[in-house]
Amino acid sequence: MAAPSDSPLFPDVVTRLRAAGCVFAEEEAELLVAAAADAATLDALVRRRAEGEPLEYVLGWARFCGLRIEVDPGVFVPRPRTEFLVACAAEAAPGASVIVDLCCGSGALGVALAARLGAPARALELCAADLDPAAVRCAARNIDRFGGQAFQGDLFAALPQTLRGRVDVLLANTPYVPSDEIPFLPAEAREHEARIALDGGADGLSVMRRVAAEARDWLAPGGVVLVETSEQQREGAAAAFVAGGLEATASSSEEFWATVVLGRRGVASAGECTPIRTKPE
Ligand SMILES: C[S@@+](CC[C@H](N)C(=O)[O-])C[C@H]1O[C@@H](n2cnc3c(N)ncnc32)[C@H](O)[C@@H]1O
Repeated sequence: MAAPSDSPLFPDVVTRLRAAGCVFAEEEAELLVAAAADAATLDALVRRRAEGEPLEYVLGWARFCGLRIEVDPGVFVPRPRTEFLVACAAEAAPGASVIVDLCCGSGALGVALAARLGAPARALELCAADLDPAAVRCAARNIDRFGGQAFQGDLFAALPQTLRGRVDVLLANTPYVPSDEIPFLPAEAREHEARIALDGGADGLSVMRRVAAEARDWLAPGGVVLVETSEQQREGAAAAFVAGGLEATASSSEEFWATVVLGRRGVASAGECTPIRTKPE
């Protein structure tokens, strides 16, 4: 099969994307040419991209942890940096059998962790939940291959009560952009992703704190909850986990440019914070 870059339409697509300011015009052109069945479809896709729509919405999918994740317009596009959270989860709970992806968006995190832990060959229970019905519909399609179930509702209120006290890994990439900083986000996020997917309240931690306050009741003994934060937020996030009766550790990765705070339902007493560990990769 011919490579997309061999298509006679390829040079024109690159030119149009470059003119629109796309930094990775050649890479994007390859994906768009490969996605379009004919010249008219390609023209429509390139026009949408040149008008500023995120590439992932134009294609209908995003690559995350090497997997193709379906992404619908308005649903948060999984970011490469969040692959670090999945890596931390796999390292913290390699034998996990009950996984919940709260604030799931497309469901990318749960899918990636399940795949990394050996599903579907290895049986896992995977649930995803989000407040946004569009995200729930999208996640339901992505987690279907693992027999996962998606629920709509406000944080833990969306989950079946049968999960209470049984969750080995709770993934929770809560929105963490401080409200005041939303106007400074790239236009692709600001204009195309849902505000509730981005806005974390005054200091960016308001949804995360609600997760931290209730997580212990849902975790199995030894179970872990992981959130992504900015570097500035990690102390506040760790304190929220400790206040919620969990041991807290934090890891940062220079490679992924990401910070993850982990809370474990474990042996430390509720009032004692395990010193935050920084793990440069
Ligand atoms: C930063 S996005 C993360 C999406 C996905 N986990 C990822 O990393 O690609 C945050 C998600 O939290 C959801 N969300 C915000 N507030 C929520 C709430 N109170 N209950 C459930 N989901 C919520 C948003 O709809 C959005 O999908």
